[in-house]
Amino acid sequence: MKKEQVVNCQFSVWYPIFKKYTIKSLILPLPQNVIDYLLDDGTLVVSGSDHNTQQTHTNNSDSDAEEDIQWSDDETTSTVTAPEFPEFTSKVLEAINALGGRVFPKLNWSAPRDANWIALNSSLQCHSLSDIFLLFKSSDFITHDLTQPFLHCSDQDSPDPVFNYELVLRKWSELIPGGEFRCFVKENKLIAISQRDYTQYYHHILKQEEQICQAIQEFFSQHIQYKFLDEDFVFDVYRDSQGRVWLIDLNPFGEVTDSLLFSWEELTSGGEIAHQQEGPAFRYTNSEVTVQPSPCLSYRIPRDFVDLSTGEDAYKLIDFLKLTKSQQEESEEEEEEEENAPQ
Ligand SMILES: Nc1ncnc2c1ncn2[C@@H]1O[C@H](COP(=O)(O)OP(=O)(O)OP(=O)(O)O)[C@@H](O)[C@H]1O
Ligand SMILES: [Mg+2]
Repeated sequence: MKKEQVVNCQFSVWYPIFKKYTIKSLILPLPQNVIDYLLDDGTLVVSGSDHNTQQTHTNNSDSDAEEDIQWSDDETTSTVTAPEFPEFTSKVLEAINALGGRVFPKLNWSAPRDANWIALNSSLQCHSLSDIFLLFKSSDFITHDLTQPFLHCSDQDSPDPVFNYELVLRKWSELIPGGEFRCFVKENKLIAISQRDYTQYYHHILKQEEQICQAIQEFFSQHIQYKFLDEDFVFDVYRDSQGRVWLIDLNPFGEVTDSLLFSWEELTSGGEIAHQQEGPAFRYTNSEVTVQPSPCLSYRIPRDFVDLSTGEDAYKLIDFLKLTKSQQEESEEEEEEEENAPQ
């Protein structure tokens, strides 16, 4: 896989070509100060005016519990002010409204699929820029796009191609995971199709194997084949309840892309799969296979941390702060004792 192939799979490159067959989306250039903010580990929540999550640590006397915390004690008083991006915020809000108020966010290549656990709704559905920032800042996949998009490329010695970062907002669509498939194209030939959510067994796939395979092949030959900039690529589709096929995403043909129920070795080794039969190889999880854990599970953290990070459980946060403070005091005392201890 070459760097050029990765560049060609950016959303803004493939979307204009296949606009008619995919979910309506808007692309906004990502300003450098927003990129810097996304890469900065120090600040998590933006105090943007687009959301009612604005929280200040001032003397709010309605809560008993809060009085227990002495904000005015020491350096904790210095309020951390998150940066604001008024112009960008209003552009994002305008785009969200134009897409019906609920969006699915991405960067040039990736969505924050590994971060849905942190969102209050445990989903990638966003209504505001704060929602998007929370997901993006918690996602390793987004960091990958921002820091090493050409990681697995074979032409490492060549200079990185020039490209601009973009925020992609897609109209929110309720996709049923059993309707999603990943299709592998080599030399403009559809060689393999895999069930996307391979962790589950879907009875309808087993029952409609032939129809699904045929519908995807037709979709490929009518709308995708020979229309893309590369002859090797991976495309994701969704087959809706009426049997219509939609394009969901385009990905580079190589290690960066999850090969799901195939292995990259078999996909790249001289088209062996394709020679075995007439059409593409079609793989799905059948009832005999044990259902597997979700691949993003390892990105999750304990529920307590989620509550803390989202402020969902305010008392837990207070407990946590008390605990850290008492631990800090203890260790300070210990240090003092050590200092005063006879030599
Ligand atoms: N517009 C949308 N509305 C709701 N859910 C969506 C939308 N677009 C995609 N999804 C869901 O999110 C999943 C991931 O989307 P997408 O393929 O764009 O992300 P990705 O980061 O490119 O993933 P990968 O790394 O596997 O290529 C899809 O499989 C689908 O279930
Ligand atoms: Mg993708």
